[in-house]
Amino acid sequence: MRNWEKGIMKKIITEEELKKRIKELGEQITKDYKEDAADLVVVGILKGSIMFMADLIREIKLPLIIDFMEVSSYGDEFTSSGDIKIIKDLDYSVRNKNVLIVEDIIDSGLTLKKVLQLIGKRGPKNVILCTLLDKPENRKVDVDIQYTGFTIPNEFVLGYGLDFKQEYRNIPYIGVMDLEEYEK
Ligand code: IMP
Ligand code: MG
Repeated sequence: MRNWEKGIMKKIITEEELKKRIKELGEQITKDYKEDAADLVVVGILKGSIMFMADLIREIKLPLIIDFMEVSSYGDEFTSSGDIKIIKDLDYSVRNKNVLIVEDIIDSGLTLKKVLQLIGKRGPKNVILCTLLDKPENRKVDVDIQYTGFTIPNEFVLGYGLDFKQEYRNIPYIGVMDLEEYEK
């Protein structure tokens, strides 16, 4: 078998740091929505958000339902074009609900801007965005992010749900890819 960590140059966020920060985010979200009477729908954007979603919802001590959306952006593994196609839509209505969108990373912002527009048209009470990682240096459009786990420099990261050519999602920490090392 190939080495499952092939090409990973360095670990930038450890499992302990992820756990600690996600607990804080969950506590903050719990506090912010405790007094809100509207139902909470937590929407994970597939596939990158799976680990973050699973850990985050366990730290939100409120009644909630989960749903998922999968979109594809036309681009290569490094860039997205902002043209998105819905691969899997939500199963439930978000009308009059508080929608918390959970994303792995916001880079150019193009994907999330489209997702926010789509969901916004369906009559939710409120749409809130929570991203594990934010790479603001590469932003092309403004996106309002209410909750951010970590702000990181403009490097290609993977692990903890984030992929490189669909692999590496099972790496339990966030790492940075060294492409030269990967190609060897
Ligand atoms: P955006 O539309 O440029 O904000 O891209 C967002 C999507 O691109 C994310 O949901 C990821 O799937 C992917 N992406 C952006 N940067 C990275 C990265 O550093 N590693 C892995 N995937 C990334
Ligand atoms: Mg993604």
